[in-house]
Amino acid sequence: MFTNILGHHIIGNKEKTKIIPTNKGKIMENTIHICFPARKGGVGKTMLAGNMAAYFANDGYRVLVVGTDSQEDITETYLAGTDFDIDNHHTLVEVLNGEIDIHDAIVKTPEFKKPRKKLQTYSFDMLPGGSDINHYPSDNLFVLRDAVEKVKSEYDIIIYDTCPSDSESSMYVLMTCDYAVVPVTNQASFKSVNTILGDMELAKECGSHIECLGVILNNLTRINLLDKRNEELFREMLGDMVFKNVVHRCTAVTNADAYNVPVCSFNEGERFDDLYYLYLELKKRMGVI
Ligand SMILES: Nc1ncnc2c1ncn2[C@@H]1O[C@H](COP(=O)(O)OP(=O)(O)O)[C@@H](O)[C@H]1O
Ligand SMILES: [Mg+2]
Repeated sequence: MFTNILGHHIIGNKEKTKIIPTNKGKIMENTIHICFPARKGGVGKTMLAGNMAAYFANDGYRVLVVGTDSQEDITETYLAGTDFDIDNHHTLVEVLNGEIDIHDAIVKTPEFKKPRKKLQTYSFDMLPGGSDINHYPSDNLFVLRDAVEKVKSEYDIIIYDTCPSDSESSMYVLMTCDYAVVPVTNQASFKSVNTILGDMELAKECGSHIECLGVILNNLTRINLLDKRNEELFREMLGDMVFKNVVHRCTAVTNADAYNVPVCSFNEGERFDDLYYLYLELKKRMGVI
C-alpha cells in the first residue's frame, strides 16, 4: 500500500478496523471505454478523467484510468508524494511492446475518503503511460484496444487520459473508446471542437464505433462577461451537444490537485458540486443509471 502526506486517505494500521473499502467487483455487464479528448493542453482533460473516475469508483464501479500522456501522467497526480516512482514502474509502453503482462503495470490509487461517509473509502486502478507513449509507433490502429482486452472483464469503466497533441496515442484512444466528451475552456474556439470531431470521424472511418456525448465547458468563471458570452455562443452553435452542467473555475480543483486527491474526497470540494452534477449528466448521456 502506498502512503501519501494525507495519512487519513489511506488505510493505516490505526484505521484498519474502522475503514471499509468498496469497489469489490464488477457491476455492469459490458465495459464502457470513455475519453475526454482535446487538441489543446490545459483544458481539463486530466482533471475530468481523474474526477469522473473518482465519482464512478465512489458509486462502487470498478474503474481503470489509462494514462496516454507522457508529459503529465495521471498516476503521478494521485501517487505523488508516495513511494511510487513512475520511472521504476512498468508502463503501457511495455504492455504495447508485448514485454510484460498488463496486470504488472496497473497500480492502485490510495483508498480515498468517501464524501459524507467518513468511514468508507473507494479507490480505482491506473495504468501509467510511460515515456513517449504520445508517439508510440504501430501499424495496428487497434494496438491499445487489443492491449486492454485482457483486463476489460475486470472493469465497469475504463477512462483514457489523452495527450493534447494530434499524436499517435490520441488516435489509438479514439479507436478504443465507445464514448468521447470534449472539454473546452473560455479561450476555446469552435474550431478546436470541430477539429476533434473531425478526428473522431476519421477514427470511425477506420473502424472505431466512438460516439461523441457532447462538449463540456470547463474552468469558466461565474462573473466574467466574456465567459458568459462564450457560453451563450457555444450553446447557440452546438445546442444540446453542450452539457447543461458547466464546471466553473474553483480553487477546490487546484487545492485537491495539490493534495493529490479527487475533488469529492477533498473537504473543501464538498462545497463544489459542479463536478458531481456533471457526473450525473455524463452517466445519463452514457445510458448508465
Ligand atoms: N474547473 C477548474 N477550476 C480550477 N482549476 C482547474 C479547473 N479545470 C482545470 N483546472 C486546472 O487547470 C490545470 C490544467 O488542467 P488539466 O486537467 O491538467 O488539463 P489538460 O489535461 O487538458 O492539460 C490544472 O492545474 C487543473 O487543476
Ligand atoms: Mg493532461
